[in-house]
Amino acid sequence: MSKQSQQQNFVHQVIGHNKQKHRLVPQKAQGTGHAPVNIALSKYWGKRDAILNLPTNGSVSISLPGLGTETQIKPLIDSNERRDKVSLNGEILDENNPFAQRVSAFLNHFRKDKNSFFDVITVNSVPTAAGLASSASGYAALVLALNDLFEWQLADKELSLLARLGSGSASRSLFSGFSVWHQGQQEDGLDSYAEAIDTQWPEFCVGLLEIDVKQKPVSSTQGMQNTVETCALYQAWPEQANKDMQVIQNAIQTKNFTTLGKTAEHNALTMHATMIATWPPIVYWQPESVEAMHKVWQLREQGVEVYFTMDAGPNLKLLFLETEKPAVKQAFADIKILEPFKQ
Ligand code: PMV
Repeated sequence: MSKQSQQQNFVHQVIGHNKQKHRLVPQKAQGTGHAPVNIALSKYWGKRDAILNLPTNGSVSISLPGLGTETQIKPLIDSNERRDKVSLNGEILDENNPFAQRVSAFLNHFRKDKNSFFDVITVNSVPTAAGLASSASGYAALVLALNDLFEWQLADKELSLLARLGSGSASRSLFSGFSVWHQGQQEDGLDSYAEAIDTQWPEFCVGLLEIDVKQKPVSSTQGMQNTVETCALYQAWPEQANKDMQVIQNAIQTKNFTTLGKTAEHNALTMHATMIATWPPIVYWQPESVEAMHKVWQLREQGVEVYFTMDAGPNLKLLFLETEKPAVKQAFADIKILEPFKQ
């Protein structure tokens, strides 16, 4: 079966299109969706199925309210061009733009017929300066907008499954607070979705440390594939990552910040170790990233309880409790501090 039809089958199973043809008929003039970005505390790195975006391990994340994507979608009518109209942050993208192409490829699963196109307006409230990936919030917001346009009234589980198809980490961006993305075992991918973890932790802070906001040199999809194929150390990753995920889930439930912070930092460094041991090597770090890590370790030696995590880029995300806010601010003058449970 081709990639397109495998994905199409998956989508039909989730939205129930086979049974009810009207699932792909817009029920209103436009649909809207909003979703936050999320930061993984134990990471997703590696796909066991690249077509359905199925991970080799589960992951846990925290969403950042106030930073995310707002999407509007409507059927494109009276257009001579036989393609979607996609705009990002106020700019209409041309057909060769990679973002527009990815969005259109995703929307191929949701066309009533080959003549139906969409008008998509996407606004990212992720400040470029934050150095955060917006694909997670982007696909989650797009799925919410489609759910609204077609009035599917899907449950969170189904929304998460659809978002996962766009970008793995998007499965976790449907929720506020902490969430867990289950690895799943089934070949059809219907058991690999994220759920909210029902714990409020008002003192929990995330600090965004901008090192460099340029486009990453290797995409996460490409990076994961190279790691899985060429890194011998990677064999140890899925088991370790699943253990870390359990430890972090327990630490969230018991509000054990020390265990959460240590495990999250260790997990991120383990993931980066597999990247570095890939061929060709993937080193997302800049000298300033390493400098910031040393600063975090120095702070810890001085008794300030702060940890870091990093994704497929050079920027650090610091984890600490409210009591450490003054010390963290003093050490990192340009840090942007977010309190995910206080709005
Ligand atoms: O969802 P993707 O394909 O952008 O991959 C995300 C990978 C990491 O950000 C490095 C880890 C994670 O779990 O978010």
